[in-house]
Amino acid sequence: MPFWVPAMTAYTIRPKRGLSLLGIIAALSFSVIFVIWYGMNSDRDYIHPILTQLIPAGHCACESSTTFQCSTCLTCPEPPVQENTTPAWSFEYARDGRNEALDQKQCQSAFPGLFEDIARGGKFWSTHGGLSTAELDTITIQQGMARAFISQGELHVVTARSKGEDHRRKILGTLSSIHRALAADPERASRRDVEFVFSVEDKVDDVTNPEWPVWVFSRTPTEQGVWLMPDFSFWAWDNPNNYMGPYDQVVDRIKRLDIPWSDKKPQLVWRGKPSFAPKLRRALIEAARGKSWGDVKQVDWSTGSNVLKMEDHCHYMFIAHVEGRSYSASLKYRQACNSVIVAHKLQFIQHHHYLLIADGPNQNYVEVERDFSDLADKIEPLISDTETARRIANNSVTTFRERYLTPAAEACYWRSLLDGYAGVWNSTVEQWSENTQRERGLRYESFVLLESPKMFEFDASATERWQAS
Ligand SMILES: *[C@@H]1O[C@H](CO)[C@@H](O)[C@H](O)[C@H]1NC(C)=O
Ligand SMILES: *[C@@H]1O[C@H](CO)[C@@H](O)[C@H](O)[C@H]1NC(C)=O
Repeated sequence: MPFWVPAMTAYTIRPKRGLSLLGIIAALSFSVIFVIWYGMNSDRDYIHPILTQLIPAGHCACESSTTFQCSTCLTCPEPPVQENTTPAWSFEYARDGRNEALDQKQCQSAFPGLFEDIARGGKFWSTHGGLSTAELDTITIQQGMARAFISQGELHVVTARSKGEDHRRKILGTLSSIHRALAADPERASRRDVEFVFSVEDKVDDVTNPEWPVWVFSRTPTEQGVWLMPDFSFWAWDNPNNYMGPYDQVVDRIKRLDIPWSDKKPQLVWRGKPSFAPKLRRALIEAARGKSWGDVKQVDWSTGSNVLKMEDHCHYMFIAHVEGRSYSASLKYRQACNSVIVAHKLQFIQHHHYLLIADGPNQNYVEVERDFSDLADKIEPLISDTETARRIANNSVTTFRERYLTPAAEACYWRSLLDGYAGVWNSTVEQWSENTQRERGLRYESFVLLESPKMFEFDASATERWQAS
C-alpha cells in the first residue's frame, strides 16, 4: 500500500514518514514554482492555457488602467485671437513641424491638450507647499538619475549616476533634449531659474518614490508627485544592438516608404517577447491565434526568427501595442505608420497619452480590454469595413506623427515643463557654492565632452575625482 494513502484511523506521522511527506510537499512546491517561472519567462509561441492562467500579473499589475476623457483637447476652441492686424497663426506640419523655436503663444495654439500633465503636476505641488532645494536634497540620486539646474538660461549638471551605457545614453539624451529646447528659446536669457531631478528608469518605483517631484518618462495614475518628460528616444534610440536614430529620422524613413492604404494587409501585426509582460502579451497571442486577421508572433532575438523591422509594421492596417514591464517607448514608432493602433487599456502614462482618443469622430486608436477579450469584436467590423479603419489611421497620423510627436511639439513641451515647474519652484538657484568655493554644477557643454567613464558617477562637487585622468 502506498504510504501516502491516508489511514483515517489513528494516523500518526512518524518521523520518517513526516520527512517523506515534507519531501513531497517540497517537490510539489518546487514544480509549481518552476512551472510558473517557466510561464513567465518562456518566449515559446504556445504554452498551455492553464499555465497562462497561473502566471501572476507580476510586473504588470493589471487591475488599473488609464483612459483619458480628453477628446475635447483636440477640438477645444483655439485661444482667442487678438484683434490686431496679422491673421491668426496656425500650425502647419510641413512648415512648422521641425521648428523647435515656436514661441509660447504658438505652442499653446498648435498643441492644445499637450500640456495636461504639467498643469496636473503644478496643481499637485501648489497644494503641497511648492518645491525648493530642501525637497530636492531629500531625494536619493540612484543610478539612472541626475540632478541639474537651469540658471540664466544655461543648463548645468550637478550629479549624474549610471549603472552602465544604457543609463548614460538615456541621461545624455534627456539633457540634450533640454538643451535643444533651451537653445531654441528666444526668451532664453530671461527664463526663471529652476533646479530639478530626473530619472531615466522605466518605472518610478525602480529608483525613487511617487511622493518626490522627480521628472520621469512615465507614471501610473496614482504616482502624483512626479512630472512627465518626453522620453529619451525623441533625441535618439541608439545602442550597439540597435541604431534607430532620432525619432524624427525614423519618421522620415517610414514616410519614404509611404505604403498606400489599399496595399496594406488587412491584418493585426505584433512582434515581441512574451516574457517582458507575460500576462498581457500571452493574452494577445491567444486572442489572435488561428484568426485570419491575426499576425501575432513571438520574437526570438538569438535566432532572428519572426523579427520584423519597425518600418515593416507599416505594411499592416492594424498594429497592436502592448505595454512591457512599464510604458513602452515603441508606441510612438507604431504611431508613425499610417495604420490603426490597437492597444489595451494602458496603465502607464506618457506625456502625449492624453491625446489618445478611443471613440467618436476624432478616434485615433482602438482600445481593447487588458485581457484582449474584446479584440475580435473590435477588429472584425474594421476588417470588413476598412474605410472606418482608414479614417482612424488618418486621425492617428495627423494627431501624432504630424503634430504632437513633432520636434516642434517636443520642444514646446520641454519649455512648458520648465515654466510649469518654475511656477511652483520656490527657491533661488545658486551657480556658486560657498562651501567648496567653486561652481555647483558643470555646464552641459562641458559635461558632454567628458569621457564616458567619468559620466557614470558624476558629482560636480567632487571635482578632483572627475577631473583626474
Ligand atoms: C515659499 O516659501 C516661503 C518660505 O518657506 C513660504 O512662506 C511661501 O508660502 C512659499 N511660496 C509658495 C508659492 O509656496
Ligand atoms: C488624411 O486625410 C486628409 C483629408 O482627407 C488628407 O488630406 C491626408 O492626406 C490624409 N493623410 C494621410 C496620411 O493619409
